[in-house]
Amino acid sequence: MPKIEFTKKHPPIVVAKGANLMKSLLDHGVPVASSCNGQGVCSKCRLRIVSGTEKLTPENEFERTLRDRLHIKKEFRISCQAQVLGDITIDADYW
Ligand code: FES
Repeated sequence: MPKIEFTKKHPPIVVAKGANLMKSLLDHGVPVASSCNGQGVCSKCRLRIVSGTEKLTPENEFERTLRDRLHIKKEFRISCQAQVLGDITIDADYW
């Protein structure tokens, strides 16, 4: 089962392979910013992937659209649109 580690504050969590990143964090009490409730339109749920970016599912159309429109850097992923396939380390400015 994939492990999600954090650069600060939160202890690691273990999630089911293929679990949605944002939902997994919320289910474990880790706050994730959002104003669209995971619909893939606000971009507030973006997280910096410190390591293991290849362990997330590829970007879908919603994420590509947000990235292009808002010039989101490649090190960030839209967490409501990504599924976790392996171990990753993540960070957010507000943690
Ligand atoms: S929660 Fe709005 S884009 Fe992810």
